[in-house]
Amino acid sequence: MAGFGSVFMPEMTLARFDGERWSESSFVPSDSLSFHAGAHGLHYSSSVFEGLKAFKHNDGSIKLFRMDRNLARLTNSSELLSLPPIDVALVEQMIISAVRKFADQTPEPPGSMYVRPTHIGTDAQIGAAASPSETSVLYILLSPVGNYFSGGDRPLRLLVEEQGMRCAPHMGMIKSGGNYASALGPILQAKKTWQADQILFCPGGDVQETGAANFLLIDGNEIVTKNLDPSFLHGVTRDSLLTLAAEMGMTVSERALSVDELVDRVANPDCEAALSGTAAVLTPVGTLIRNGEEIQVGSGEVGPTTLKLRQALNDIQWGIGEDNHGWLTPI
Ligand code: PLP
Ligand code: COI
Repeated sequence: MAGFGSVFMPEMTLARFDGERWSESSFVPSDSLSFHAGAHGLHYSSSVFEGLKAFKHNDGSIKLFRMDRNLARLTNSSELLSLPPIDVALVEQMIISAVRKFADQTPEPPGSMYVRPTHIGTDAQIGAAASPSETSVLYILLSPVGNYFSGGDRPLRLLVEEQGMRCAPHMGMIKSGGNYASALGPILQAKKTWQADQILFCPGGDVQETGAANFLLIDGNEIVTKNLDPSFLHGVTRDSLLTLAAEMGMTVSERALSVDELVDRVANPDCEAALSGTAAVLTPVGTLIRNGEEIQVGSGEVGPTTLKLRQALNDIQWGIGEDNHGWLTPI
């Protein structure tokens, strides 16, 4: 099967900001994009993106999951990188028209249509390292997807990194390519040396997140995960799962979690850990690698609470459970 995000719909919606106002959006081919080779976004990384999913329900309808949250984060990321201001109503309409156009190519669950809004500074001025781009391009790319991590529910191996950071601390809550590029070297090294699937970034011993997903410790009736601060990405999936967990009567502890506490707690055979994200959904973690030592998380297998939480989330996304929170938008 093709890797996650490697198949694209042939067209996307696109709009440009000319320094004063947004153009109307139009459909353009998705296999090429034109802007100057000196574009600000290419040289100084004034470029942000989002990731959300559209799901096909049994009745054939298509629903977007928590689009408002992704639009809010796109607005915030754009503002923090001094990009032109997002027109939320325009982007919402661009997402809906793109998803609608390719509705018949939305995979059945557990697949979905992954939606990738992208906003790039386009000023052609390579002297502008210390000033923002006044123009930009925004487009909505679509990719039908299945699982992000290959191997289904094979529990992941995470290298615990206690020194290095994923990205600069003030950048963590911005969904920008530079943050992923910044983490790439260490991740490749971790894969090569430890056959790790990902790095769990824990700068100074503070358990933060991985390269492309949030981290949840699930210990009995309690979920522990880092409280929101600017150093890491405020996941929509994280928020959704914490909401559902609280409704199931679980104790949700959003607070600092140290590596020492994590390692102590995963020794409990009933303890679970998992990664949450739009792409990752809720993927179990089976092994931590710390200082060259492999530490099994609980039983080392996917645990019942991870499965229960993921099912509750999927039930809403797939239209099997009630959408009590108004998380779904029809297209
Ligand atoms: N953290 C990082 C670095 C990510 O790339 C993602 C994926 O989007 C997440 C966390 C999870 O965020 P969300 O649940 O909004 O997809
Ligand atoms: C997402 O979960 O939407 C992400 O952005 C992760 C991505 C690296 C596939």
